[in-house]
Order: sequence, then C-alpha cells, then structure tokens
Amino acid sequence: MAEPAHPAVPGGVGGRPPTRNRSGGRAYVTLQDVAREAGVSLATASRVLNGTSQVRADLRERVHAAAAHLSYTPNAHAQALASSSSTSVGVVCHDVSDPYFAAIARGVMRTAAEHGVLVMLASTFHDPSREVEYVAMLRAQRARAILLIGSGFEDRGWERSMSAELDPYQRTGGRVAVLSRHRGLRVDAVLPRNREGAAALARALVDLGHRDFGVLVGPRALTTVSDRLGGFTEALAETGVRIPPRHIVEAPFTRDGGYAAATELLRRDRRPTCVFAVTDMMAIGALAAFRDHAVSVPGDISIAGFDDVPVVRDLTPSLTTVALPLDAMGERLMGLALREPSTRRSRVERISGEVVMRASTAPPSA
Ligand code: GUN
Repeated sequence: MAEPAHPAVPGGVGGRPPTRNRSGGRAYVTLQDVAREAGVSLATASRVLNGTSQVRADLRERVHAAAAHLSYTPNAHAQALASSSSTSVGVVCHDVSDPYFAAIARGVMRTAAEHGVLVMLASTFHDPSREVEYVAMLRAQRARAILLIGSGFEDRGWERSMSAELDPYQRTGGRVAVLSRHRGLRVDAVLPRNREGAAALARALVDLGHRDFGVLVGPRALTTVSDRLGGFTEALAETGVRIPPRHIVEAPFTRDGGYAAATELLRRDRRPTCVFAVTDMMAIGALAAFRDHAVSVPGDISIAGFDDVPVVRDLTPSLTTVALPLDAMGERLMGLALREPSTRRSRVERISGEVVMRASTAPPSA
C-alpha cells in the first residue's frame, strides 16, 4: 500500500505528539508515535516491528530508526494479547450514520452486553486504508476481538495489508469475525447469500412483467456489489433479459450515491421500467431523485433495494427489497467472535435473504 502524504486517521498517525507525563517527560511511547516519527502509516510500522510481511527496505529502516530514537519497546501485553482478560471488542464499519450498520451494530452490542463486553465502534468513511489503520489501532488497544462489518474489498494490496495485521493478531489470541465475503482473509465469517437474494429478486420482478432494467451499483471492487449485480444479471439472463451497459450506473455506496446514479440514469437513453439499487440506502437516494424529477414510483418506474433497513417499510411508497436479518447477523457475528477459535478451518455462517414485495414495484405501465 502506498504511504499516504497525510495521515488518514484523525488523532492517529501524525495526529498528536507522544504521550507525555505532567513533567513533560515521555510517559509511554506508542506504535503510533513510532509511525508518526518515521512518516509511515500505522499499518506499515506494525508490519515492520512485527516482522509479519514484506515492507520496502527504506521504510523498514525509517521505522527501526524511529523506534530506536524514541526508545520504543513493544508493549508485552499488546504482543501477547491476553484475550481472555480483555473486555473490549472493536467494530469497524463504513459509516455509523448508515442505518444498515446501525442495525447490525445493535445486534453486536446486545450480545456484547450479555457477555459484559464493551464495543469500540469506528467508521472508515469508505476508505479501505483507514480500515487497516483502525485494525492496527484496535490491536494496540488490546481489543479481545475485531469485527469488520463493511463489505469485503477485492484488492490484493489491501488483502495483504489487512492479513499482515490480522494474522499476528489471531496468532496471539485475538479473535476476528467479518461480515460478507472477504476473499483472502483467514477469518470466521457471517455471509449473506447476496447472489441468491439478488437472483430471487430479479425473478420476482420479471414475474411482475418487467423486461427493461436499470441497476444502481456502488464500486465494483466491493464484494457485496459484485455479488448482488452478478446474481441479478445472471438470473435475468436465464429468462432471456439483458441489461444494456448504459443502464448500469456506478456511484458511491451511499444515499447520495443512489441519488446521483438515479439522476444520471434518467439522463441516459430510454428509461427502464424497473431499477434495482444494490442497497436500500442507494434506493432511498434514488427515490428522492425520482421525486425531484417528477418521475412517479411505481407509476413511471419501479424500484427495489436490498437489505431491508428498518426505515424502508415506512417510506411512501414502501420499498420492495431483499430482507436480511440485520440485527441477528450482528448477534451471530459477535457470537462467532466470542467462541474459541476453530483449530481447523474458519467458520462460515450463511444467511439467506427473503424477497419482500412492497408498494415501490408494480407491473410496468403499458
Ligand atoms: N449492504 C451491504 N453492505 C452495505 C453497506 O456497506 N452499506 C449499506 N448501506 N448497505 C449495505
């Protein structure tokens, strides 16, 4: 991973001076202090000092020099993580204000509370390198478990950086569980059946009479996006329906992304009769865009989402979607992280979605 010119984490690398005691002497030098002194990311400093993966020679030298200069000694507790005695777990999501993550975090927190565990919640704001930084920070905080609840990301560099954090963490007793498909990470996982859910939705929309579809997608490097788009288009292809490339519009994986993608779709040639937004949040943005452009739903265009975040059943019109048990997924994820690690293979719990037809979809108008 390239070293950022500026630190990605506020208050993290480069964000504050080494911790000092009242008389101004250095009380405790942290890995973050070393990273800042060396001008590298926290993840890179961690990789060098843990010796867990290859780092460019010049960066390695800078980190060792900074560690020597600051008299950094790795904290024995952090190195040999006392997982049984730590009472905190870290949860890393994209954005805590997104109702999808709020619903999952609710389930995580309920199970955590039942076990007397405190949850530290971090938002990456969709920056994959920040996700690695937060994992490094949670290791430094001696979290007993780390849960990644944002979508997996298909990028070899990111996978290497993340594995360089998670592998030594797990070897020293830390527990990790992820939500969604994270290729290349050796971790326990809760896996929504995204492909199958999107395929079932496609069949239901074809049964309503639709043949002209648009899809609003987030970045395709996200495994959730590629799985949902793939499942939807494959199921349509089986019924002889093809989506023209101009009707697949990519935008940020947010409500605003949905608004922008729907606005763009309306500008393109020949409006489809039905739109699938790969998340409910994107569908909510699309509904607002259609309203602003006086396009009536479902009279002029039908729209469906995916996830069933709590608010979508109360919209006008209520949103057709693929319902996932978000709260229960959070509980199961926390449950996985509280269990002893499997000695053989990573555990995988698969979750099916259910198509829920509501008022935002109707047969196409003639
Ligand atoms: N569904 C699956 N992943 C996501 C995500 O990252 N954000 C939202 N809003 N919904 C999702």
